[in-house]
Amino acid sequence: MTDRVLIVDFGSQVTQLIARRVRENGVYCEIHPFNKVDGASLAAYDPKAIILSGGPASVTASQSPRTPDAVFEKGVPVLGICYGEQMMCAQLGGSVEPSDHREFGRAFIEIERDCELFHGLWEVGAHEQVWMSHGDRVTGLPEGFRTVAVSDGAPYAAIADDQRHYYGVQFHPEVHHTPQGGMLLRNFTHRVAGCTGDWTMAAFRQQEIDKIRAQVGDGRVVCGLSGGVDSSVAAVLIHEAIGDQLTCIFVDHGLLRMGEADEVVSIFHDHYNIPLVHKEVSDLFLDALEGVTDPEEKRKTIGRLFIEVFEAEAKKAGNAKFLAQGTLYPDVIESVSFIGGPSVTIKSHHNVGGLPERMDLALVEPLRELFKDEVRELGRELGLPESLVGRHPFPGPGLAIRMPGAIARDKLDLLRKADAVYLDEIRSAGLYDAIWQAFAVLLPVRTVGVMGDDRTYDYVCALRAVTSTDGMTADSYPFDHAFLSGVSTRIINEVPGINRVVYDVTSKPPGTIEWE
Ligand code: XMP
Repeated sequence: MTDRVLIVDFGSQVTQLIARRVRENGVYCEIHPFNKVDGASLAAYDPKAIILSGGPASVTASQSPRTPDAVFEKGVPVLGICYGEQMMCAQLGGSVEPSDHREFGRAFIEIERDCELFHGLWEVGAHEQVWMSHGDRVTGLPEGFRTVAVSDGAPYAAIADDQRHYYGVQFHPEVHHTPQGGMLLRNFTHRVAGCTGDWTMAAFRQQEIDKIRAQVGDGRVVCGLSGGVDSSVAAVLIHEAIGDQLTCIFVDHGLLRMGEADEVVSIFHDHYNIPLVHKEVSDLFLDALEGVTDPEEKRKTIGRLFIEVFEAEAKKAGNAKFLAQGTLYPDVIESVSFIGGPSVTIKSHHNVGGLPERMDLALVEPLRELFKDEVRELGRELGLPESLVGRHPFPGPGLAIRMPGAIARDKLDLLRKADAVYLDEIRSAGLYDAIWQAFAVLLPVRTVGVMGDDRTYDYVCALRAVTSTDGMTADSYPFDHAFLSGVSTRIINEVPGINRVVYDVTSKPPGTIEWE
C-alpha cells in the first residue's frame, strides 16, 4: 500500500497547503479535524507520519484544542507546525507563554545545529527566510528536545527530539513565503518517516479504476457533463473503469459559451466514444427565464429545470444505480470552525444536489481526494486535451448570471461574441493560464456613442478577470492598459450592439467573481 501521512487540523487558514506540499513530494495524505482523531481512526488510517497544523487558538487558554493522546502513542514521527509546535511542547512537559512580540510575515531564522529536517537544505550558521504568524511562543522545551534554529521573536524557531522523531517549527513551511518549506517537509516525510514518494497520478489512476469497479460491479452509472474540468475528468476515468456501463448526460440549457456544446460532444462522443446523451433544451430554459431579473430566481429556475431534465434522461438511460460527480477534496474536507453560527447564503449554487436522494442513487466520486491542480494532472495523465484540462471554471447557471436583468436570446448572442473575442485576446497574449477566470458580462444599460459619422445607442460590456487559488477570495487581474483598449476596440468593431467596454477592478470580497 502507498505510504500515508496524516495532517491533524487545528483550524489554520493554510492547512490545505500542508497537504498540497506533501502530495507534491509524492506522498498521499489526508486532513482530519483534531476532534475526530483517536486510537481507532489512527489504526484504520495507519499513517507513517503525523503533522499537527497551526491554528487560531492560544495554547495558554484553558479551552484550547489539544493533540489527541493517540497521536503520541502511535509511535510514528510527528511534526508540529506553529500552534502544533506549541501544543506539542505544552503537552509533553515544556512551557508556552503569551508574548508581547508578535511575529507576523517574513522573518529570518538562524540555523544553530544540524537536524534531519535541514538535510541538504540549510547549514549551521545560515540565515534563512521563513514566514511566521504567531503571538504565543515556546519558553521551555520538554525533555529529549533540543533547539535547532532561532529567530528574534522565537527562541525555539525549530526544535527536534531525534530519539522519538518529534519535530516542531514555529514558522510555516507550507506557504510559498518560506521558499524552502516544501523541501523541509520532504525531509520530514522522506528522510525521517521513510516515505518513498511513489504516489503518482499513474498510480492513483489505477487505484481509482479498481475502486470504481469494486463499487459499481455490473451496475449502471449516469454522469452529468458540464464541459468543465472536474466532470470531464471524472467521466473519462469512470469510462476507463467500466466502459459502456456509463452514460453521460449533457444538458444544453442555451446558456453556454460559443462553440461549447459542439466541443463537448466532439470530445466525449466522437473522440472517447463515451455514450453521451446531448439534450438540447434551450427553449425550455429560456422560456422559463423570460422576464426573470432576480439573480436568485434565475439560479433556482435553472437548478430546478436542470434536475427535471437530468432525472428524465437518467431514467431513460437504463436503470442507473449510481450518479457520478466531480466532487473535489476541498469540498470534502471537514474544516475546524471556531466561529460557528449559520452562514449567510450569498448565492444558491447550482449542482445536481438533491438528485441522489430523489432517485435513490449512490454517488461515485473518484476525485474526492484530489485538489484542482491534481485533477488537471490526472486529466493530462488520461490524455484529455489541454484546452479542456486547463479550462477556467464555468458556473452551472452559465451566461444567465453574466447578464444582469432579463435574459434574451439576442442579448445572449452579443454576450457570446464579446466573450469569445475577449478570451481570444487573452489566449493570444499568453495570459490564459495566469488567470483563474475571465469572462464578459453584458449590462442591461445602453449608452450613446459615435461610430463613423453615426450616433449609436448600444449595450455596455463589462470585462472581468481574476486571480485566485480556490475561488473563495480573488483579485482583479492587472492587465496593462494597452491590452484592455485593444480588446475594447475589437469587441466594439466585431460585435454590433455593443458600443462601450468597461473593466471590473473589484476584488472578492467585497465583490464576488460572478456578477449575480
Ligand atoms: P462567486 O461568484 O460566488 O463564484 O465569487 C466563485 C466561483 O464559483 C463559480 N460559481 C459557480 N459554479 N455553480 C457552479 O458550478 C454555480 O452556481 C456557481 N456560481 C458561481 C464561479 O464561476 C467562481 O469560479
